[in-house]
Amino acid sequence: MRLFIDTANLDEIREIHAWGVLAGVTTNPSLVAREGADFLQRIHDICELVQGPVSAEVVAQDAEGMIKEGRLLAKVHEHVVVKVPLLAAGLQATRTLSDEGIPVNVTLCFSANQALLAGLAGATYISPFVGRVDDVSWPGGDLIAQIVEIYGQNPHIQTQVLAASIRHPVHLLEAAMAGSDLATVPYKVFKKSIKHPLTDAGNEGFLKDWSTVPDRDIPSLVERFLAKRG
Ligand code: E4P
Repeated sequence: MRLFIDTANLDEIREIHAWGVLAGVTTNPSLVAREGADFLQRIHDICELVQGPVSAEVVAQDAEGMIKEGRLLAKVHEHVVVKVPLLAAGLQATRTLSDEGIPVNVTLCFSANQALLAGLAGATYISPFVGRVDDVSWPGGDLIAQIVEIYGQNPHIQTQVLAASIRHPVHLLEAAMAGSDLATVPYKVFKKSIKHPLTDAGNEGFLKDWSTVPDRDIPSLVERFLAKRG
């Protein structure tokens, strides 16, 4: 499984990118609007920073408009992935753009049948919304599992499952357990996911014990050790 970050905030991307775990970024119109930044400049900056797939969403509602916006967005940077909503027009745009070699992330997926259609239309990624499915009392993890199973049974579908709308660490765990190819994870969920009280307590204990060792500076210990060995 690979991880994207779900944000348009450069500081958040920089911080998680430094962890060495980031494969790409997803944005949506709400996330970009929250930043108040120039849309295309921000997408370009993110692409330069992560050097991996960066989803930028179209806002046209008809196929012709989506295709036009998608082609233009793809010119902003080689790493742009065009994000289109899972509407009939979105499927049509997906087919055209993917036939032209432009990667497409089909978003707002809430059912396995929708995912099947997006896969057949040539989507590079399908984004099932785990958290928003949970919001209406249906287990989002089950949706991921259904899509993974259906795609697994249809090797002609090359679409990767990108679990989205991840609201907390258990959503990430559910997506991983269900065999999702990727998940796009908000900054705060990355921060929560790295945390464990036993890690902190264990680390503190090791440092406390090590502080009782008289000769404990590792770089000078290594230097002396190597010098002794010639
Ligand atoms: C990303 O591709 C989606 O737009 C995003 O994960 C939606 O998350 P939300 O349901 O928390 O808004």
